[in-house]
Amino acid sequence: MSEPRLTIIVPTFREAENLPRLLEQIDSVRRELGLDMELLVMDDDSRDGTDRLIAAADHDWVHLHVRTGQRSLSAAVLDGIKLARGQIIVVMDADLSHPPQRLGDMVKAIDDGADFVIGSRYMHGGSTDADWGLLRRLNSRIASLMARPFTRVRDPMSGFIAFPRRILDRGGNLNPVGYKIGLELLVKCDCRDVREVPIHFADRTLGHSKLTLAEQLRYMQHIRRLALYKYPNASCLMQFVVVGASGVVVNLAVLTLLYNLLGVRETIAIAVAIVVSVVSNFFLNRRFTFGYARGGSLLKQFLGFAGASALGAIVNYSVAILALAYAPGVTVPQVAALLGIASGMVINFLVNRLFVFRRTGRA
Ligand code: GDD
Ligand code: MN
Repeated sequence: MSEPRLTIIVPTFREAENLPRLLEQIDSVRRELGLDMELLVMDDDSRDGTDRLIAAADHDWVHLHVRTGQRSLSAAVLDGIKLARGQIIVVMDADLSHPPQRLGDMVKAIDDGADFVIGSRYMHGGSTDADWGLLRRLNSRIASLMARPFTRVRDPMSGFIAFPRRILDRGGNLNPVGYKIGLELLVKCDCRDVREVPIHFADRTLGHSKLTLAEQLRYMQHIRRLALYKYPNASCLMQFVVVGASGVVVNLAVLTLLYNLLGVRETIAIAVAIVVSVVSNFFLNRRFTFGYARGGSLLKQFLGFAGASALGAIVNYSVAILALAYAPGVTVPQVAALLGIASGMVINFLVNRLFVFRRTGRA
């Protein structure tokens, strides 16, 4: 069999209702433009008649692949990419949200030299159905904003994408985490000439969306992994800062619990809050910020962390106690604790700046 020029990958899970119309529309684009293509339906064992339907349609350019392992949109797409024989690869949804009529423009952009083409809702000429509620719009916008550090495209969330096979040589270790395989490819394959083609994104009329809350949480994980991939040093620092901020919350929560709810004496409550937050910072930093060292000795790492935090913690405690006793206006231990935390942070910074990471010579 000769290789087709174009491979369209359509991941499906229970889309039997939508497939006939999708195939019909793609077929008419195929004939109209004379596109030499294969279409791979990557189905996660839907058992809804998808197989019978594709057999009945009797198109020699349509192939069904049934996956029986773990159900996953991204993994299904990556499997499709491995099977694809075309020099141009397109990924699109089965539910007719992505208009096959735009395929011609996407292919043209790639022939013109683009590394990556996105069917985009958020550009001049693009649109979505009118009845998107505020919440859904907000959700989509926030998710797009979170992708901003990685790409300037206007619709990084789109699942309607096209790219030439050659970009795959650049992107090692594609990770099928979550729903956004387009974003994964865009970032990891280091695509330079990225173009967007406006689409009207139609809401599905048949079947159900498979985008769950769990998927949206996985998106956070995806963003974190992309950050570690693209900006390893900055993400390490960012995570350290976020963990530090969580430590402040833990500190105040423990303090409030002990002092306001359990009636523990202020001086003791402040001390316990500091210790608990140092410990929680340690575990969070070990798990996230310095996750690469998770295999190391827990005890050794803890002693190191506690040692490095000790002076800051002592200053933190002293300032809090002194503020509580002498500073006018400081009447609740929480305010004293915040003053202590701020001083402790300054000390931690100075210790590192002056002793641990001292400037040597004129460098
Ligand atoms: N094989 C397989 N396995 N396919 C799946 C799975 C799965 O676990 N989950 C979903 N799909 C298929 C669906 O059958 C559909 O063809 C396509 O993936 C998109 O799923 P929807 O459930 O329709 O997703 P959506 O409408 O919420 O999300 C769409 O919009 C996003 C942008 O807002 C998709 O186009 C996304 O790709 C896009 O990013
Ligand atoms: Mn959909």
